[in-house]
Amino acid sequence: MTECCQQQSWSMEEVEQILDAYQGQSSALIEVLHQVQHVVGYLPREIQVKIAKALDVSLGEVYSVISFYSNFNIKPKGKHQICVCKGTACYVKGSPEILQRLEKELDIEAGDTTDDGKYSLEVVRCLGACGLGPVMTVDGNAHGSLKPEKAVAILQKYN
Ligand code: FES
Repeated sequence: MTECCQQQSWSMEEVEQILDAYQGQSSALIEVLHQVQHVVGYLPREIQVKIAKALDVSLGEVYSVISFYSNFNIKPKGKHQICVCKGTACYVKGSPEILQRLEKELDIEAGDTTDDGKYSLEVVRCLGACGLGPVMTVDGNAHGSLKPEKAVAILQKYN
C-alpha cells in the first residue's frame, strides 16, 4: 500500500477532476497544488507525479514549487496541530526559545510533522493574544505566558 492510500478519506476522482480542468496548463501549477492539497490534505509524491503529467511540467518543477512555499505539505498533518506565534510581541517575549525547545523535543523543524504522525509544528504571525505572549495554540486552544519547559509540559496533555 502506498503512503497516499493510507487512511484515505478523499477520492482520486476529485483529484482527477481538478487535473482535467487544468490539463496542459503549466502556468496553473500553484493553483492546482492549492486545490489538490485542499482535497487531499497534503501532496504526496504519487500525487505530484499526476500533477506533473497533467500540467505538462517536470516532477522537479512541481517539487521545487512545493518546497518553496511553506503552506504546501508533503506529509499528512499530525493528529495535533501546534502553532507557535512569532509575531513581534511574542518574538520579543521569547517565542524563538519556545519554538527551539519544541523542535528539539519533537525532533522536527517548524513546518514538519513527527514520524509517528502525532504532532505538526507551525509558525504563525500573531494569534491575536499579544498581551499573553509568548503564545502557542494546540488544536486551536491558546496557551500563553509560555516558558520553554511549560510549552513541553502542555504537549503531554495532548496524546
Ligand atoms: S504577536 Fe503573538 S499573539 Fe500577537
